[in-house]
Amino acid sequence: MGGQAQAGDGPVVTPGDGSRRDFRAAVLDGLSRPQKAIPSRYFYDERGSALFDRICTLDEYYPTRTEIGILEACCGEIGRMLPSETAVIEMGSGSSRKVKPLLDALKTPCAYVPVDISREHLIASARALARQYPQLTVIPVWSDFAKAFSMPALPAKSRLIFFPGSTIGNFTPEAAVSLLSGWSRHIGLGGHLIIGVDLKKDPQTLQAAYDDSAGVTAAFNLNLLARANRELGATFDLDAFRHRAVYNADEGRVEMHLVSSGEQRVCVDDQPFTFAAGESIHTENSYKYLVEEFRDLACAAGYRSLAVFTDSATLFSVHVLQVRKLRIGEAAL
Ligand code: TRP
Repeated sequence: MGGQAQAGDGPVVTPGDGSRRDFRAAVLDGLSRPQKAIPSRYFYDERGSALFDRICTLDEYYPTRTEIGILEACCGEIGRMLPSETAVIEMGSGSSRKVKPLLDALKTPCAYVPVDISREHLIASARALARQYPQLTVIPVWSDFAKAFSMPALPAKSRLIFFPGSTIGNFTPEAAVSLLSGWSRHIGLGGHLIIGVDLKKDPQTLQAAYDDSAGVTAAFNLNLLARANRELGATFDLDAFRHRAVYNADEGRVEMHLVSSGEQRVCVDDQPFTFAAGESIHTENSYKYLVEEFRDLACAAGYRSLAVFTDSATLFSVHVLQVRKLRIGEAAL
């Protein structure tokens, strides 16, 4: 089957998340907590996705180019470790840029399933990729990859999940174990997971990556409030909040916040929320790992480590893992 036809058919799953109603519920719930918070999956509306693509090109944001460098350098070797006729499922596929060296290195990949919460971005990227790989069946799935969704039937002997970008770092270590062990059902025993994981390093480098001098990350973070104004009729004054990124060494994570400059009151859906000066909305964590720490995490999730690749400055890592144990005792994902 040709890729174009599939991609042209549009996404196969409609998510229960990312909709206005879910966004409203998440904002109302998050702002009612002692530490106010808004879940980071809502960053990725159309404008947020475009801003995120810009973050990935910033000098200070080393993860994207470093990971692409690792993938380009190591894909030959990775390709030799993997079976032929594999279906590649990419979680949080965004622009589907990083998967290309992998697709090129695989022996006859037979399907590509990009999964993303940003619908327009997903369809456009899937179309473009299908045009470049006419032999490949491309089946976009519009979904929040952290939620259970049904996987389309795939004409493949084996499956591989590709999860680049250190998006796994946006989950707590406990949630990461649970997410990855849940995915082992999508891949099946003996299937593979290729995952990009950002590494611990000096706090200055980390902080700069999440607080760039051009202010793109600040705009990305603030877009959450702009989105709440646009979609929920909220009354956030964007000039009265500023972006803050700090590395919390005890937790091993960069924390992103939106900090209220002064005392203020904001309404969401006629519900008032008060902010003290300096009070923040916590919007994202980005956990950083040592290579061994992440290997242990993957092991706890039921995977064995086949290989780990890093760049020469050990800024970033790409782990090749294999499912050795399926999680049992839960409804099939
Ligand atoms: N997965 C990316 C990371 O943790 C996401 C990201 C990059 C991000 N920059 C951000 C999330 C700024 C929130 C704010 O590196």
